[in-house]
Amino acid sequence: MLPREFFIEDRLEKYRKISSCNLGESGFKNFKLGEIFNFIELEMDEFKQISLEDSSNRGMEDLRREISSLYGNIDLDEILVTTGTSEALYIFFRSIIKKGDKVGYFSPAFQALYEIPLLCGGILNPVNIFNGKNFEKLFKESDLVILNHPHNPTGITFDDKDWDQINFYAKKYERVILFDEHYRFLDNENGMGRTGYQGKNTFATGSITKSFGTTGLRIGWIVGNKEIISKMRSFKDYLTHTVNPISEFLSLKLLKNKARILPLIISILKENQRYFLENLKSISSIDSMIPPSGGLVAFPKLKDGISSEEYSDNLYGNCDVFVLPGTNFEMEGYIRVGFGETKERFKNGINRWLEWEKYKEI
Ligand SMILES: Cc1ncc(COP(=O)(O)O)c(C=O)c1O
Repeated sequence: MLPREFFIEDRLEKYRKISSCNLGESGFKNFKLGEIFNFIELEMDEFKQISLEDSSNRGMEDLRREISSLYGNIDLDEILVTTGTSEALYIFFRSIIKKGDKVGYFSPAFQALYEIPLLCGGILNPVNIFNGKNFEKLFKESDLVILNHPHNPTGITFDDKDWDQINFYAKKYERVILFDEHYRFLDNENGMGRTGYQGKNTFATGSITKSFGTTGLRIGWIVGNKEIISKMRSFKDYLTHTVNPISEFLSLKLLKNKARILPLIISILKENQRYFLENLKSISSIDSMIPPSGGLVAFPKLKDGISSEEYSDNLYGNCDVFVLPGTNFEMEGYIRVGFGETKERFKNGINRWLEWEKYKEI
């Protein structure tokens, strides 16, 4: 059995490099290597010293130590560094899901979070996030609960009441929980958001790539109990075995310098979001939108009867603004808008979008 096609990738492949306002992306506009060198104050001589030998199977010790500090200094054996979070998710689902297991998650969702469980023989239990965060349904009816926060594609995060409920139902039903915390570094209000990882039957994935504008580094990780992480490490030996040492080196430097880099990224992100929200009412094709409280994207609802694919095609064709249609997330009637563009390209793109909407009205 093979997974279905990855719905978002076709459009991303087609438009991400040619659109002058790329809002189809869920990451921050990628930096050039020279810009990263400046951020982390790296001299060429130090860079030249990187050895191109295989890194250690679990990931470089210094990097794991830095990752450990993001979870209250957990044991290094609880951490596995992977090639993208996608690899961590794939191995995790393969290791944990038995045929017939029920897998709960809030929909719409990042496709890998349910497509791979399906491939592993899981039975999907999607709970529509737009009907309220029904944690009870999620926990009661699932063997494995997946909680992605900040949430892709809606930008919804969990507040203190949500966390109380998560802790309550986690205790009551004792499920295995996977927290997908890919956008944890970009909690709008607080910088880095909290983690759900609490050892025992909880797991969490994380990444620097989208939040730091370095998707090409392809570094992700998973934290969890030592036995499972050890088994996952052995599985990884059959796939990518080790990660790229240059990527690992840069990821470590980025994490060490996060206090300097993230405020800059968050300020651009907030400004783009502010500009979009200020002008939202003038985009008459959009019915409503939950303002994102974290991450890099939001999922505005289109007015009734508008096809999300047609709208996305026309928006690109007329304004050179690239967004993803809701059908790519198996939810018609919405579009996903990213806020990771540069301020100038974002503003110019939104202005063209506003002009087009005005002209469409006439
Ligand atoms: C919620 C979520 N999880 C996981 C991933 C996969 O991440 P990576 O690019 O590190 O493989 C993404 C990528 O967009 C994502 O949005």
